[in-house]
Amino acid sequence: MSFIKIDTDKCQRDRICGLECPGKLIVFPEKDSYPKPVEHADEFCIHCGHCVAVCPHGALSLEGIGPESLAAVNPDILPDQSQIDHFLITRRSTRTFKKKPLSRQQLEELIDIARYAPTGSNKQQVYWLIVEDQAKIQHLAGLVIDWMRMLLAQSQDEALNSRYGRLVEAWDKGIDRVLRGAPHVIMAHSPGDVFGAGTDCVISLAYLELAAYSRGLGACWAGFLNTAATYHPPLQEALGLPDGHVPHGALMIGYPVYKYHRIPQREPARIIWR
Ligand SMILES: Cc1cc2nc3c(=O)[nH]c(=O)nc-3n(C[C@H](O)[C@H](O)[C@H](O)COP(=O)(O)O)c2cc1C
Repeated sequence: MSFIKIDTDKCQRDRICGLECPGKLIVFPEKDSYPKPVEHADEFCIHCGHCVAVCPHGALSLEGIGPESLAAVNPDILPDQSQIDHFLITRRSTRTFKKKPLSRQQLEELIDIARYAPTGSNKQQVYWLIVEDQAKIQHLAGLVIDWMRMLLAQSQDEALNSRYGRLVEAWDKGIDRVLRGAPHVIMAHSPGDVFGAGTDCVISLAYLELAAYSRGLGACWAGFLNTAATYHPPLQEALGLPDGHVPHGALMIGYPVYKYHRIPQREPARIIWR
């Protein structure tokens, strides 16, 4: 299969594919020539598919993937800027969840959207763990509490002691402030040796959180779970990530009980201009 294939009936030689290629792997040797890959282009290509996606004429295929295999962008259904701004600033962390679970299809749909988050060099090394079962989530929260108890027994750090102490106290009274009775937890993880994968996982989770909000679902970052998962072997065992994988972030997810009526205040932006 050729690396790139040009339909010369359709190609207008407008050079857009070459200009947009992240690695500048498509060139035009002469003024009016058709696009051509540079030598060893296949070794450097990050398979982002932008050359196929950007061509207005549908003239280019990359490694057998042509314009007909890609979904079309539909500008008519894109929200306008004020709608998007309002959507972004009205997303809130949900901390009270209905018992009602989401279906696998709903959870898969969220992950399907998160696949479109950017990843460094288009590596797409984001892996998912979905904990669907409420009893398992309780078990995980309990392991986070065990880890906190261990730290409390050793730590002289007052701020940490009072923060974790309150969470442990609540747990002992039957209140889960770690995973908050969420019906599901979604964790993003990656092989430990993939450079930059932590950032990719976090961006993907942020996409997923927004996709959840757009569907009337509620989500909240599970920071305590993720931190404990980095340090506490019994929790790592219970999570059972593949060998060599590391957790990079997690979200609790479900139906929210409450709606927010106002947008909370934020600190002013801190900007350095140069
Ligand atoms: C990395 C990260 C970890 C977080 N961990 C928790 C957590 O463990 N429990 C919790 O209730 N909220 C957690 N949050 C939610 C923050 O408290 C929340 O985003 C912040 O208060 C702002 O509120 P908003 O998300 O509604 O805008 C976390 C948020 C982030 C970004």
